[in-house]
Amino acid sequence: LSSQHSAADKGLKDYYKDYFPVGVAVGPQSLQGEEAALIRAQFNSVTPENAMKMGPIHPEENRYFWDDADAIVGFAQANKLRVRGHNLLWHEQTPKWLFKDAQGKQVSKDVLLARLKSHIETVVKRYKGRIYAWDVVNEAISDNPQEFLRNSEWYRICGDEFIAKAFEYAHAADPQAVLFYNDYNTERPEKRERVYRLLKQLRDANVPVHGVGLQGHWSIFEPSEQELRQAIERFASLGLQVQITELDVSVYPWEKERRAKRPGEADAYTAELEQKQAAQYQLFFRVFRDYRKQLTGVTFWNVSDRYSWLDTYPVAGRKNYPLLFDQQLRPKKAYQAVVKF
Ligand code: G3I
Repeated sequence: LSSQHSAADKGLKDYYKDYFPVGVAVGPQSLQGEEAALIRAQFNSVTPENAMKMGPIHPEENRYFWDDADAIVGFAQANKLRVRGHNLLWHEQTPKWLFKDAQGKQVSKDVLLARLKSHIETVVKRYKGRIYAWDVVNEAISDNPQEFLRNSEWYRICGDEFIAKAFEYAHAADPQAVLFYNDYNTERPEKRERVYRLLKQLRDANVPVHGVGLQGHWSIFEPSEQELRQAIERFASLGLQVQITELDVSVYPWEKERRAKRPGEADAYTAELEQKQAAQYQLFFRVFRDYRKQLTGVTFWNVSDRYSWLDTYPVAGRKNYPLLFDQQLRPKKAYQAVVKF
């Protein structure tokens, strides 16, 4: 395999055509040149990394910014890629105006829900028929095991009601769209069970939620095969589709995520690390293939090691190498591990 793709080359989407679509998170900057060629050759689904979040797409109450989102949807249509919409409600990347009235006072629950409804209707209807699935609510469960829902502005103003409302608004705007709840660390048993509890409540109340997105911001250390299997099985038992929505495999341990880079520590991506990462990817995809009935998509979070959100998080300035393609867009050992089965 080389970075030069001819029509005869197989991409991830071809190896996995009998399993699930393989997607990638993109920004408008990836839609030209060699990155665009790589996307076309390898993937059959895209997720806008940032362009459809409420802050970027709805910067003022009466103004939407469609250019980036339209460019991504247009690229997808031209190249016959599916689009997963991401996302309609999150506690991050919210616009400044959202929670305040003209006097700068916090809005009431009724006003906030009316704003949410109008936002969801506008965005979902614009892309109706072109976006097949939406991450409707993102990361609403707290990271604190003592809490249930995250103590966000959404929660402080609306209580728990905003979650069901968001799904109802989205379903009304596009009854064909597959609606997801999306979150991270969903395979850690304690958080998994709180996410399960939320989804069970929604299902029992007949809220139109159809799938759960396991983000998949993993590492060469976690999750274990057993944790991954248990998570997929647990959520599928609710009758939900499962997707891996934001896959990457950090070469650093997440449990030390808050530590600063030690003086003199090299950003070396050693042969040993690359090998470990390949083995980890191989394990994950072996499990994914086993659950082809439950898993309806696997999406990588960014295209190649040239750029990843993990280059600046959780440690600024620490380069990471979490994807299947290197900085020259060449397939890595991990790629071979994923396509050999
Ligand atoms: O667009 C502005 C630009 O105008 C400004 O000059 C610049 C200066 O900081 O910031 C730009 O915004 C950045 C944005 O990405 C676009 O590049 C934000 O600072 C930065 O925080 C933002 O990061 C994104 C992050 O979500 C937001 O928390 C990452 O790219 C994106 O990969 C990440 O994605 C999330 C998923 O949506 C949900 N799950 C976790 C995942 C990783 O955090």
